[in-house]
Amino acid sequence: MWHVQLFKLNYDEQEQQAVQKVLNSAWITMGQQTIDFETAFSDFLGYDTQCLAVSNGTAALHMALLACGIQSGDEVITPSLTFIADQNVTHLIGAANVLADISSPEDWSMDPIEIEAHITEKTKAVMIVHYAGYACDMDSIVDICKRHKLYLIEDCAHTPGADYKGQPLGTFGDVAAFSFFTNKNLSLGEGGMVVTQNPELFIKLKGLRSHGMTVPSFDRYKGRANSYDIEMPGFNYRIDEMRSALGLVQLRKLEDANRKRKELVEYYYNRLDTIQEITIPYRYFSRGKPNYHIMPVLLSDKTDRNTVIESMKQDGVQTSIHYPAIQNFTAYKGKVNSTPKAEYVSIHELTLPLYPTMAFEEIDIVCDALIRGLV
Ligand SMILES: Cc1ncc(COP(=O)(O)O)c(C=O)c1O
Repeated sequence: MWHVQLFKLNYDEQEQQAVQKVLNSAWITMGQQTIDFETAFSDFLGYDTQCLAVSNGTAALHMALLACGIQSGDEVITPSLTFIADQNVTHLIGAANVLADISSPEDWSMDPIEIEAHITEKTKAVMIVHYAGYACDMDSIVDICKRHKLYLIEDCAHTPGADYKGQPLGTFGDVAAFSFFTNKNLSLGEGGMVVTQNPELFIKLKGLRSHGMTVPSFDRYKGRANSYDIEMPGFNYRIDEMRSALGLVQLRKLEDANRKRKELVEYYYNRLDTIQEITIPYRYFSRGKPNYHIMPVLLSDKTDRNTVIESMKQDGVQTSIHYPAIQNFTAYKGKVNSTPKAEYVSIHELTLPLYPTMAFEEIDIVCDALIRGLV
């Protein structure tokens, strides 16, 4: 249907073989593949980070808030330009979402000044998102959280392979939540990783993942235990062996895939820099190494985004929006504070196709279609 899709899987026979091996082993719920995936992810992040593979990024965020003891009546400072999972998990715990605006039309990361300005006696945590794999200003944000004794939760859905001044994203917060949804840099269909360097939080997270059970069924299968205790209430937020096996392959491919993304984004820059009607966020980014998760652009005031989207669709080019304004969603209308800069971006942002196996010719097709759509 599409001439150029927004995203395509970076899969080959390695993924097929990995899943086949699991199927042949006849053990498909959490077991050795998952332990290996968690170990590999811990090594990948470094900084003594402990990792738990989970069913998705939303589950990881939910667990992060609960492990930090966030409850009804607390306030959590949350991002204004993000996927709605951040708001949903906070809201469903009974805490209040207090949105912090982004920095500027070029830098869409949460503004540390905005974060600090929204802290009250009820604030218990700051949840940040590293939009599109570009690091937030971590020196300032870590400092704010320390001074105000607040938990820091990193939404790392966009970040595998990205860093801040050389330190991997996901190693700054008390807890960080990764997503391995289909279009992510590490793509498993569904899946996530919740990570921490704090041993007490790790124990709580482990309990939350699997009913607070002291012994996983894999250990009983292996004859290591006959029964189990329940040490705390928890959920079933487990991953399975097929997806952990995919995760191990995708993790091995990540560095090359991110390098390819970088080349593609630079090609985009060459084509887009001369177009007056658009601005490219993070064009001269200097806080660390990005992983180029998506290719967002900002359309000018004079451009009608729907006309551009429709025109590009006619040319067979799929686009997306990251993200619609939280304030305009039915569920949140009138329930969250306004964030004018993020709301402006929400109205004017357009996401162009980007994936590691993309060809430069496909970028030409996208840019030609964009230019046609702008006139
Ligand atoms: C920024 C952000 N946060 C959270 C999530 C939720 O992750 P998942 O879809 O794995 O539950 C996503 C994924 O779509 C995301 O992009």
